Amino acid sequence: MEQGLGEFGERRAIVLAYVNCMWGECGMASQEFFQPLWNGRNLYEPVLARIVEVADETPDVKTFTLELDGGAIDYLPGQFAEVSVFGVGEAPFGISSSPTWTKRTGYIQVTVRAIGRVTNALHRLKVGDYVGVRAPLGNGFPVEHAEGKRVIIVGGGIGLPPLRSLLNYMLDNRERFGKITVLYGARTPADRVYKGELEEWERREDLEYLDTVDIADEEWQRLGKRVGVVTTLFPILDEQSPIDPPNTVAFVCGPPIMIHFVIIELEKRNVPDENIISTLERHMKCGVGKCGHCAIGHKYVCTDGPVFSWAEMKELEWMCAEPAV
Ligand SMILES: Cc1cc2nc3c(=O)[nH]c(=O)nc-3n(C[C@H](O)[C@H](O)[C@H](O)COP(=O)(O)OP(=O)(O)OC[C@H]3O[C@@H](n4cnc5c(N)ncnc54)[C@H](O)[C@@H]3O)c2cc1C
Ligand code: FES
Repeated sequence: MEQGLGEFGERRAIVLAYVNCMWGECGMASQEFFQPLWNGRNLYEPVLARIVEVADETPDVKTFTLELDGGAIDYLPGQFAEVSVFGVGEAPFGISSSPTWTKRTGYIQVTVRAIGRVTNALHRLKVGDYVGVRAPLGNGFPVEHAEGKRVIIVGGGIGLPPLRSLLNYMLDNRERFGKITVLYGARTPADRVYKGELEEWERREDLEYLDTVDIADEEWQRLGKRVGVVTTLFPILDEQSPIDPPNTVAFVCGPPIMIHFVIIELEKRNVPDENIISTLERHMKCGVGKCGHCAIGHKYVCTDGPVFSWAEMKELEWMCAEPAV
């Protein structure tokens, strides 16, 4: 017996009928509007995802582990997901799990700071609740560009999620990459995300890990750990494992001001512009290159990015006559 459409199916059928009516039989517009993104799925249609775990990272950051209806998806580190809270809205988040972890577990993770309507609503959800997910979106990090090279990963605060995806992917494919160094800076020790994992990274022998905070607490001081902005880690790097510029690829994510100063440090050490890779954040709506909300010059951050090399960002800066980072 044919199944009924159900509440969401009926709503979707009404929207489809409305759009087809608006555009009549005009093939081009409606075909492009409904161009499938993956597995023949509509660009705008989220899949249902069950929250299987919620981890508190900091007082205002949580990591959500999601089980997608229809099974695991394949994606690249640096791609993002549009996550919808039903009745509230949708927002983009970098996928913080690695594709290799997703292959093993079937889940994906996003790490979310509560700052507004959607993110606060997401923080109120519990294990067993459902969200909508459109993923994977965006271009992702050019991991093949880093193969065989020295890799420097520089993260600031909540900028770590996409870099965590990248790092765990690289650690699962360790033989494909040269020396890997992680530099992580946060405002305070409490503001550091993935605290358990940071300790593991610090212990690993196949990874160089240095971290710092802007403002230490008593425990941080007692342990004699580093205090200062993330760029203060570069002189330490110069001492213990100097950068070999043409053979180094740097991945940088964090607040725009941090990215700006980290790029200055990398430029001082002659890392080529095309080997400095970062991500741009813009307000997004569709996430799939249709609405124009995220445009910078002739580029859409949602489809041409969010990952760009410093060489590409300089071009964007020139086009829009305002700093890209
Ligand atoms: C590609 C991409 C990846 C992202 N990855 C993550 C991630 O991994 N984790 C995470 O916590 N957030 C991430 N963000 C930011 C996240 O999308 C926003 O925090 C979210 O959209 C806010 O939605 P909201 O409804 O809660 O806030 P709103 O109620 O819409 O806004 C609250 C306030 O935040 C400001 N704001 C909203 N979005 C942004 C933004 N993108 N940049 C700066 N200010 C903003 C608004 O202007 C407003 O002042 C990412 C954004 C992009 C574009
Ligand atoms: S968010 Fe719509 S074009 Fe990028």
